Amino acid sequence: MPDAPHDRIFVAIDTTDLTQALALAESLRGRVGGVKLGKEFLTAHGPQGAQKVAACGMPLFLDTKFHDIPNTVAGALRAALPLKPRLINVHASGGAAMMRAAAEAAAEAGEERPLVLAVTVLTSLDEADLQAIGIPDPVQTQVLRLARLAQDNGLDGVVCSAHEVTALRAACGPDFKLLTPGIRPQWAATGDQKRIVTPAEAVRLGADYLVIGRPITGADDPAAAARRIGDEIRAARS
Ligand code: C5P
Repeated sequence: MPDAPHDRIFVAIDTTDLTQALALAESLRGRVGGVKLGKEFLTAHGPQGAQKVAACGMPLFLDTKFHDIPNTVAGALRAALPLKPRLINVHASGGAAMMRAAAEAAAEAGEERPLVLAVTVLTSLDEADLQAIGIPDPVQTQVLRLARLAQDNGLDGVVCSAHEVTALRAACGPDFKLLTPGIRPQWAATGDQKRIVTPAEAVRLGADYLVIGRPITGADDPAAAARRIGDEIRAARS
């Protein structure tokens, strides 16, 4: 469990602009738990770019969302270990053997092992989308099924909507890590996020980590925005 309220926050740096990414990481060091680099940044700048961001002293969440055969996912995860990510993820729908292979590859880093999280159902999918790919169940049923599969096969937690936190906590217990995007402080623009919750509410519901992008990265003063969010979480917990 992260120590300080702001340690729970991973800032989504969604840009292909390396200079901007480095400036953000530099300005947020010590004010958030780390930065999330996803496919956009990683495809543009690869591990060398991620290394440069990490060199700012920021723990990394590599939002790789691997989904392939077990041998390939294990190899990809192993290839990411020199970056010493704190968090990394794979798609739970890659199946039990794939998740076991990912967990085993991560374990090779010993004490510096990243937490491996599973993506269950992308929040861009609704029940009709699931039916179209042959899954007749409601979204929440599929989310819980994949979360249990992830837990049973050695993964540390899942990426989920804050609206799923309560059910997942009940199903998977207190130690299973829950990381939630879709977070908006009351004072921030909603943007394209629809089913949002505030940082304090997400933590109150039981989220371990929050992924927050534009409310921090788009603020005039990102460090001040991060501090304000940390203060709101602290106030909600005291
Ligand atoms: O700027 P914003 O706070 O909306 O950024 C949220 C981050 O979390 C983005 O990197 C986005 O891709 C990611 N994400 C999300 N919703 C999901 C899964 C990931 O917003 N369901």
